[in-house]
Amino acid sequence: MTLEQPLITLLNDGRFHTGPALAAALGVSRAAVWKMIRSLQAQGLTIEAVKGRGYRLTTPLELLDPVQIRAGLAAAAGLRLAQIEVFRTIDSTNTYLVNRAKAGVAGGSVCLAERQTAGRGRRNRLWVSPFAANLYLSLLWRFNLAAAELAGLSLAAGVAVARALEELGVTGIGLKWPNDVLWQGRKLGGILLELGGEASGPCHIVTGIGLNVTMPASAQDAIDQPWTDLSTALGAGPVSRNVLAARLLNALVVQYSDFERHGAATLSAHWQRYDLTAGRPVLLKLPNATVTGIARGVDSDGALLLDTGAGVQRFLAGEVSLRLSG
Ligand code: BTN
Repeated sequence: MTLEQPLITLLNDGRFHTGPALAAALGVSRAAVWKMIRSLQAQGLTIEAVKGRGYRLTTPLELLDPVQIRAGLAAAAGLRLAQIEVFRTIDSTNTYLVNRAKAGVAGGSVCLAERQTAGRGRRNRLWVSPFAANLYLSLLWRFNLAAAELAGLSLAAGVAVARALEELGVTGIGLKWPNDVLWQGRKLGGILLELGGEASGPCHIVTGIGLNVTMPASAQDAIDQPWTDLSTALGAGPVSRNVLAARLLNALVVQYSDFERHGAATLSAHWQRYDLTAGRPVLLKLPNATVTGIARGVDSDGALLLDTGAGVQRFLAGEVSLRLSG
């Protein structure tokens, strides 16, 4: 068993602890403590080492805790969600739940991680996932619907995230089709939906949400697009990631339950409220072509409507990317 977690717990009071004291508390050698400290620093934890005083975590961490997350759930979410698993390190919370879904795990299963070593974004991009800094959350949902009927679900996920953030006091949240979460033109979070099951139903979707909460300086160079984080958007002290996780899950359960009952029909109206591109010139990159036009919102299947001059065309989310142009 790794002793890194108990070591973090010991260091988490913000005080200095000497190497011998940590070694005694953990029942290991001083060399082993030093090795673990180096490993935690490499994972992005800011552990200060001062000769004669020892080690301390410069900013105490609030670690993710399934009990606290469950305590923050609304009644409806409490009923619909199954187990909530938290990993310290995982390759990708989405990959984990995609595999668990194939093994038959219950719908409503949730997976979170403090750190991802192979966090995945849309279009095969890497999702930068430093330790205990941001939120990496995946939810498995099973539907008695055909795959084609789930096209609009990515909009539902975006609306859920926007609503949860608004409830936390963030103003000016915008969505860029299909489901980029932006604040002041910079990416605050992203959503990756992965579909499995039978084309004619039943099928399941793993919704993966990555939200920047307090991005550490050490991770910033790895991000290849304009970004922001929740601490900046709120302009306030640290955001509790346990509270944030519970709020996101509450909002997802509301939107997904609604989707089960009404499909995407009512979604386009909700989406409009956050739509950043409506009425603006955009450039849509398809795998083999680029289309320009004026964005005209989304339809009831969640397709992007683009006025291309040759009439309004609809585009379904997939391996496409949308940018403002002009
Ligand atoms: C995007 O490219 O905008 C989507 C990013 C999605 C990242 C999240 S983090 C939790 C979950 N696990 C992953 O590997 N990806 C998603």
